[in-house]
Amino acid sequence: MTPHAMQRQHAHASKYEVLASLESFVKDLMEKHESKREIWYSSQILPVDQDSNNDKEIKELRDRARGVPDSARVALALNLLTEEGLPHFHRLIAEHFGSDTFWSKWNNLWTAEEDRHGNILRDYIRDSRLLNFQVLEKLQFNYIRAGFNPDWGGDPYKVFVYTSCQEKATQVSHANTGRIVVDKEPMINAITQKIAQDEARHYAFYMNVFKEILERDPDHALDAASAIMPSIEMPGISVVNFNEYADVVRRSGIYGPRDYKKIVEQLIIAWGIEVMKCLNELGRKAQEKIMGIPARLEKVAEYIELRSKTKSFRFEVVFGRVLEMA
Ligand SMILES: [Fe+2]
Ligand SMILES: [Fe+2]
Repeated sequence: MTPHAMQRQHAHASKYEVLASLESFVKDLMEKHESKREIWYSSQILPVDQDSNNDKEIKELRDRARGVPDSARVALALNLLTEEGLPHFHRLIAEHFGSDTFWSKWNNLWTAEEDRHGNILRDYIRDSRLLNFQVLEKLQFNYIRAGFNPDWGGDPYKVFVYTSCQEKATQVSHANTGRIVVDKEPMINAITQKIAQDEARHYAFYMNVFKEILERDPDHALDAASAIMPSIEMPGISVVNFNEYADVVRRSGIYGPRDYKKIVEQLIIAWGIEVMKCLNELGRKAQEKIMGIPARLEKVAEYIELRSKTKSFRFEVVFGRVLEMA
């Protein structure tokens, strides 16, 4: 461990004790997780038969893909880039949960599951010629190279709050992307629904771990939640033109501030935040702050919707075509 990492661990020493005490809880949760999920691979969904040539299937796939609207292509590009940010997240989890503890079992399992998401989206996009692949590869390279360093101050509790929000956000985003193209290209929907189901199970894992932390260390846990929940920094933030992508995704009804508000409301209920009692000053303040977040997010959503006018976009990755959106 680097001196800097040791210093940060020291600052959150009692939290690391709580994390260490969760071993059997996490073991049970992982067993439950593994018993519920099925592992699928890109090769089971997309044609990769070595013995016959897949020309006909690939041709049909490309024909269907031609009907996919550019707004959905933008969303798929952002979904893929987000998934390909996996190295950042593997590192962040290892840094915050320890790479030499039982938590590394979860980190490795989770990483292996997540890796398939980027694989299948990338395979589909390449087979279908849906995007300018060279541009996409450069975006991916630059995104990974730019790094992703959210300001969590070495607090491991914040990681659970962030991942709970983030897994749910990716679930919504994948599922809605599939839904808007299902009539043009059902295979995209089949892929994104499979990914969304994985994200839902990841959400359940992180959400349940943090629920347990709230039981064991309520005041510090609430304090961490109140720092993260007002707004989460999306992993793709360092993607060039990220805000333009996010704007198209919002205008397409795939993911926007209202979806985030729903996620916060859902977490407040799942974590029982409103009804938590016997808190100290720190905990009470955090609880109050969290309970005020949905109303604030509603105002943000209204503000954005009121200001939003028809706009034209242009993305190199979508062959530089102009995209008009209301
Ligand atoms: Fe994912
Ligand atoms: Fe996930």
